[in-house]
Amino acid sequence: MSYELNKLVKETLAQYTEKVEEDIIIVSNKDKYYDKISPIDATDYSDKIFSLMKNLNKTGLEDELIGVLSNGNSFKDALSHTIHDMSNFLEERLFSYVELGPEPIKTLFILSSLLKNGYKIESYTSIDINPSSETVMREALSALIPEEKINFINSDYANCTANDIPSNGANKIVTMLGFQEGNEDPKAILDILDNITAPKDIVLSEMQMISEYNFTPIFDFYNSSNMVEFSSVVFKQIFSALDSVHGVFLLPITINSFRCFVAITTETITSYGEYFNKIFITNYCLKFSPNQYTAIREERNLFTVFGSHCTEDQSVMFQLSQKTEV
Ligand SMILES: C[S@@+](CC[C@H](N)C(=O)[O-])C[C@H]1O[C@@H](n2cnc3c(N)ncnc32)[C@H](O)[C@@H]1O
Repeated sequence: MSYELNKLVKETLAQYTEKVEEDIIIVSNKDKYYDKISPIDATDYSDKIFSLMKNLNKTGLEDELIGVLSNGNSFKDALSHTIHDMSNFLEERLFSYVELGPEPIKTLFILSSLLKNGYKIESYTSIDINPSSETVMREALSALIPEEKINFINSDYANCTANDIPSNGANKIVTMLGFQEGNEDPKAILDILDNITAPKDIVLSEMQMISEYNFTPIFDFYNSSNMVEFSSVVFKQIFSALDSVHGVFLLPITINSFRCFVAITTETITSYGEYFNKIFITNYCLKFSPNQYTAIREERNLFTVFGSHCTEDQSVMFQLSQKTEV
């Protein structure tokens, strides 16, 4: 499935840049998040990738002007309102927390809000293809959760099911944050979420939205220092000896018959030789409108969206949905 999306993204960029497809190099999105040579043990590469994601969230929660136009929701406000709605919705005080692609900053913010309000955690489970997250996450969580309740699964979450998660019967809160689901075909994401959840479980997710009127937040995000460095680190992992220039594209794309956008970051190779002027795609991420984002989650009637909050500039949305009863 991702292969199909990779192919489509490549074709879309080729058409726009008037290149032939052979001039564009793409690797699977998930492959850039870990070191293929060392999938189990952390390396400098996997540590770096993890720390760049963490830094993005640090800026997101610390800079109270992110997402604000005048006096509306900042990024932090949008997340706080979402946590508030989620706590009101939870029927039981006990929950199990499952994080698909973990990071400590938003997670600690979410978990400490829930625990402060009297909710109790049965277990925390992280599923990550990147082994570097475990040490940092264990340390960050140690102040909130007893060690024996913390579990790590170092795997592709596409290979996991609800049976892999020790929830002891408690309803799960499953998070997929950081625009991660834009890296995959929405149908594949729905399958992943379906396989990991049971009826009544909640999914908390976060996506960058496309606004008809203002594309600036998307370009600002992909041109931010952390994202430019991310692009460069991914490129250098494969082409360590070559030089390149960074690029950001935002292009219309049709996925499963609906029209959305894809943000693509690239490194165009400037070193003379075999790869000169070829474009290496370092990342791509689908961008939906708020209505599309709801429709995608509710497709096949597997989940019902019961809440969402956006930043004032409409650039980031947190969405809450619940797995329907069968
Ligand atoms: C865009 S980052 C988002 C990180 C974090 N959730 C956040 O909010 O910033 C994606 C995360 O998902 C992990 N990841 C990506 N694809 C994965 C896959 N197929 N299976 C497991 N983990 C994956 C990466 O290691 C990374 O930690």
